[in-house]
Amino acid sequence: MNFAIIGFGGLGKLHFRCAGEVANRVKDVKLVAICDIDEQAFHTQTSTNLGNVDDELDLSEYHLYTCVDELLKNERLDFVITALPTYIHEEIAVKVMKHGINVFSEKPMALTLEQGEHMLQVAKESQVKLMIGQCVRYFPEYAMLKNLIDSKKYGKVIRADFIRISPNITWSWQDWMLDGAKSGGAALDMHVHDVDFIQWAFGVPKAVTSVATNHKTEHESISTVYHYDDMLVTGTGDWGMPGCFPFTPGFTVRFEKATVVMSAAGVKLYPEEGEPSDIEVQVVSGYIEEIVDFIQCIREDRESKINPPEASCCTLKIALAEKQSADTNQTVYLS
Ligand SMILES: NC(=O)c1ccc[n+]([C@@H]2O[C@H](COP(=O)([O-])OP(=O)(O)OC[C@H]3O[C@@H](n4cnc5c(N)ncnc54)[C@H](O)[C@@H]3O)[C@@H](O)[C@H]2O)c1
Repeated sequence: MNFAIIGFGGLGKLHFRCAGEVANRVKDVKLVAICDIDEQAFHTQTSTNLGNVDDELDLSEYHLYTCVDELLKNERLDFVITALPTYIHEEIAVKVMKHGINVFSEKPMALTLEQGEHMLQVAKESQVKLMIGQCVRYFPEYAMLKNLIDSKKYGKVIRADFIRISPNITWSWQDWMLDGAKSGGAALDMHVHDVDFIQWAFGVPKAVTSVATNHKTEHESISTVYHYDDMLVTGTGDWGMPGCFPFTPGFTVRFEKATVVMSAAGVKLYPEEGEPSDIEVQVVSGYIEEIVDFIQCIREDRESKINPPEASCCTLKIALAEKQSADTNQTVYLS
């Protein structure tokens, strides 16, 4: 299988760095080409909120393109990974899928529900696989939490809080992330990871009530109450933190018989009776696991059991409802 990366900024380079390990896990898969509209992207290192990366990249063995049409004309590709600004996710994914090529497209799925639904429709019509990079489902801390919720090992969930806070955004190409019309702000871009986990673990909430700040950029931080019948679930995302602040995801989930906390200190279990303990999780990268799953889905001609594209579209719908709730000061009902 040959693949290409389209969009070689922060996340494109992260996928590039994962490509070797992906190839070790699933045999006969080869990165052959990289495409970015801005030639500079092939020569610059990138810092993201996930940390600085300074090592030199050797791209000599790959075909480099600055135009997606040229890439599609010249290469025989089985799939592409797109890591592009959100406002062109739909356009490029649709173009590639219409060439009969499977697409792994970074999150969030798109800027509007119509765009997301169009992507689903084209994937079906073109009989290709589409996966959206909702990588949190593949990170071991969250996969472990999902198992605890499903198995009811510690009983039902009483209350769950999710948080994702990040230094302010300085690296994006032409500052597209800082333009709410292009990125949807932190609410759609970053907080969407927790929205996706909440939806995966608890189902679609009946309604959402959100408040947001618009201090430096539109919806740079958002806090939401997700309405469920029998538990209290909240989520907060903020990408307006000082530049020296570390990217910090976390959760606190109180079950009937124990509370589970993920923080910079790792994952801890606080039982109703007894002493706290560490929960050991596998050391694996969700960014590798998601691509491995995607490749297996292509090979076995099936949808992902973990991350089907319909679920990403549903996540998009919830995140958009949160933005609407924040803008209107009203609860937005989803069912
Ligand atoms: N999964 C995650 O944890 C995670 C983390 C950060 C970002 N992302 C997502 O990844 C995507 C990209 O984010 P980023 O941080 O890499 O942004 P970025 O601005 O660093 O990179 C975008 C790249 O796309 C290129 N580009 C723009 N238009 C193009 C076109 N028409 N054809 C080819 N290349 C084009 C730009 O030159 C730039 O190099 C976004 O959707 C973002 O939400 C995901």
